Amino acid sequence: MIGVFDSGIGGLTVVRALMQCLPEYDILYFGDTARTPYGSKSPSTVVKYAVENTEFLLSKGARAIVLACNTASSVAPAILRQRYDIPFFEVISPAAEMAVQSSRTGRIGIIGTRATVASGVYEKIIERLRPECRVFTRACPLLVPLVEEGWLKKPETAMIVKKYLRPLKDRQIDTLILGCTHYPLLMDLIQAKIGRRVRVVDSSVGVANRLRQAITTDKHLQTRLSRRGCYRFFVSDTTAQFQHIASSILKRRIRLETFHN
Ligand code: DGL
Repeated sequence: MIGVFDSGIGGLTVVRALMQCLPEYDILYFGDTARTPYGSKSPSTVVKYAVENTEFLLSKGARAIVLACNTASSVAPAILRQRYDIPFFEVISPAAEMAVQSSRTGRIGIIGTRATVASGVYEKIIERLRPECRVFTRACPLLVPLVEEGWLKKPETAMIVKKYLRPLKDRQIDTLILGCTHYPLLMDLIQAKIGRRVRVVDSSVGVANRLRQAITTDKHLQTRLSRRGCYRFFVSDTTAQFQHIASSILKRRIRLETFHN
């Protein structure tokens, strides 16, 4: 089974991409809705949560884990890889790779949570891949609660998105990385506010392709991952609102089960 975790329901954008890319593989999702957001927590707290989420997914039979959360991906992969003998897939390097490949001018913008932006991890990876790139970052802490609240098309959300993106627009970026798995749910709005000429990069497709590549080349991994097209969704706190948003992200009725960490 492929285990996937996020701080909330935004990581379902990654599940959506996995379902498209690897439709027959079983997926077990955990959204830590009781402790969201992770983006305003310290690195040590996020690492602690990532370890607990991993333990839960392993206990349910996960044999590979996707960190469907940029915040956790920015601080936890090294520790998880050191501690557990299974493959971990993070969302940051696939997005950075897609961005450096697609940018013509090398002017790349990144939006994410405070923790992701403070980690500087995107800059480090981009610098390694294409040193002449200029990277401009912007923390957007209000976007996660708006998404979790389902305010995807409200005028207030449009106004906030516009305000966050203004400085990046002024820097004349040609590529924008959505450095948070909640943001693809605001894709239309973000694209409209940053302008049609800017390529907006969503890491969910990149991480799904990376997992498919790993499965194709690693026969051992292939045999360890079950393939019955089964999906289970756990959250650490559930409300009718979460249930509704989760179903609308995946465009199918899903049942959220509760697990208290
Ligand atoms: N969806 C997450 C991310 O990609 C976390 C957002 C949060 O919990 O603050 O960073």
